[in-house]
Amino acid sequence: MSPLLSVRDLRIAFSGQEAVRGVSFEVAAGETLGLVGESGSGKSATSLALLRLLPASAAVSGSMRFARADGVTEELLSLPEKAMRRYRGQAIAMIFQEPMTALNPVMTVGRQIGEALLAHAPRMPRREVRERVLAAMREVALPDPERRMEDYPHQFSGGQRQRIVIAMALINKPRLLIADEPTTALDVTVQAQILELLKDLKREHGLSMLFISHDLAVVAQVADRVAVMRDGEIVEQGSVAQVLTRPQHAYTSNLLASAPTMTTPRDRPLATMVRSGV
Ligand SMILES: Nc1ncnc2c1ncn2[C@@H]1O[C@H](COP(=O)(O)OP(=O)(O)O)[C@@H](O)[C@H]1O
Ligand SMILES: [Mg+2]
Repeated sequence: MSPLLSVRDLRIAFSGQEAVRGVSFEVAAGETLGLVGESGSGKSATSLALLRLLPASAAVSGSMRFARADGVTEELLSLPEKAMRRYRGQAIAMIFQEPMTALNPVMTVGRQIGEALLAHAPRMPRREVRERVLAAMREVALPDPERRMEDYPHQFSGGQRQRIVIAMALINKPRLLIADEPTTALDVTVQAQILELLKDLKREHGLSMLFISHDLAVVAQVADRVAVMRDGEIVEQGSVAQVLTRPQHAYTSNLLASAPTMTTPRDRPLATMVRSGV
């Protein structure tokens, strides 16, 4: 079966400087691919390129093919803008690190989730919109949806806001969810809850995901396969087990060593600190 998403030799340059230098990867249907690498390695540029959300000044080349539900594959890079708009938030949805950037502070969350639906189904009857919004809020385990749908984003916690954004992303039943550092702004306990939610959604709906993080330990919790990015290139790619237990690249070993674990001796400085001379 052909992959859902197939990226080949993707290159992205900003004012002549190549930030992504020939990246290739695939996401199969129902699979979560983790994209991991330190800050500045080109992860966000790669994900924004997929939805063609980079500034017009960015030079993008290569191939990004997406298999539609009817089996036809389309080249996202050359798709007309009008067709691309139908993809965004529908076949491919995206969530970011900071939920407030995706939320309107002066609109109730029920209305915002509803608008995400209406953007792609403008003639849906109001009653059905309301039912779908409530179902989406239940799906992401937001408490007391009938009442809370009337509340505004600031009345929710950070973790709940990320749940609202996930509800908005999933309400159009996307075939691919791109999650760019979705838990990085959250504290560790809430981060674990959001990762559990994403895993549940994947299990229950066969959601395919491109999960991006600078933290290999986080990626290992949700991903089936991992691609390790460094300086705009993928230096290693494999199953989570392979990459964690037999890293092929010194850079990956360093990413692993820099993550504190339950068994990290507390009296020893973390590898990242040693390397950066803290
Ligand atoms: N809009 C932009 N204009 C100019 N340079 C950019 C832009 N976006 C990203 N870059 C550069 O591209 C490189 C990769 O950035 P990014 O994809 O955001 O990294 P990551 O998400 O892995 O932290 C960095 O050097 C960054 O400065
Ligand atoms: Mg980033």
